[in-house]
Amino acid sequence: AILLAAGAHAQDFPAGKPVTIVVPFAAGGPTDRVARDLAEALRKPLGGASVIIDNVPGAGSSIGAAKVARAAPDGYTLLLNHIAMATVPTLVRNLPFKVESDFEYLGIVNDVPMTLIAKPSLSASNYAELAGWIAGNKGRINIGNAGIGSASHLCGLLFQSATKTEMTPVPYKGTAPAITDLIGGQIDLLCDQTTNTSPQIEAKKVKAYAVTTPRRLTMPLLKDLPTLDEAGLKNFQVTIWHGLYAPKGTPAPVLKKLNDALKVALKDPDFIKREEALGAVVATDGRVEPEGHRKFVAAEIAKWSPIIKAAGVYAD
Ligand code: MLT
Repeated sequence: AILLAAGAHAQDFPAGKPVTIVVPFAAGGPTDRVARDLAEALRKPLGGASVIIDNVPGAGSSIGAAKVARAAPDGYTLLLNHIAMATVPTLVRNLPFKVESDFEYLGIVNDVPMTLIAKPSLSASNYAELAGWIAGNKGRINIGNAGIGSASHLCGLLFQSATKTEMTPVPYKGTAPAITDLIGGQIDLLCDQTTNTSPQIEAKKVKAYAVTTPRRLTMPLLKDLPTLDEAGLKNFQVTIWHGLYAPKGTPAPVLKKLNDALKVALKDPDFIKREEALGAVVATDGRVEPEGHRKFVAAEIAKWSPIIKAAGVYAD
């Protein structure tokens, strides 16, 4: 009888209760941006349910991810997180959750390039000049990040390793507050996703020097930026992706409804347009299936673990 009741309940999902997406970073940053756009696109396919955002920042996404891992597995609490799901298992010891076994995988949402940006007062007008400034200021440069294990942290660690320059990391609860301090000149450099940086680059509030993708971007605003590989940092490559997760043990019918809704949301023309305008590419096909998502994350863990170890970049 209990099983039947639980089954019937799952069939009603979402029964007039709001669905909460936990964003493990500060409001106004790249993860928050995609989560808010996704929440909007999920509303209709979830039968008009309200989808709300809960910002639970700290520890480079680990606090928010741990909260969802421990939440009731009923479909009403979800996690939107990025590449940290694949890098923290190598970067951080004693993680308070297990990426492989504490979550149900609902699908990849998008891929997002990163940009290397600097405070507006920096005089370097291209990457070569920036490299000269970095070489001449060893020991004096600080670089922002969104906490240990975050995307900006990973990119910054790889950048320091590739340029053989140790910089002072300055952690924030997300890159929204980090970019505010970059604009104010309190920090020198930041590596951050185009979903957060392109409006600031367009408004000329920050200086942009390079992109982290293997090829140049096609969007008009950023198409003239060199790739870091082109600029001399051979094989430098980071692309961020976001995925949607539910706590382990969420009933199968609820997971099916959530995955179906996600598939519809990712085909929503307004969502696609908003993402593309910020340099992101919306996920399609197999990666929007739970199994494809799980396999992709496992492949990313296998890919990043040796890179992180070879670069000697650990968080602790
Ligand atoms: C990151 O660096 O991991 C992201 O920018 C996080 C965020 O603030 O959304």
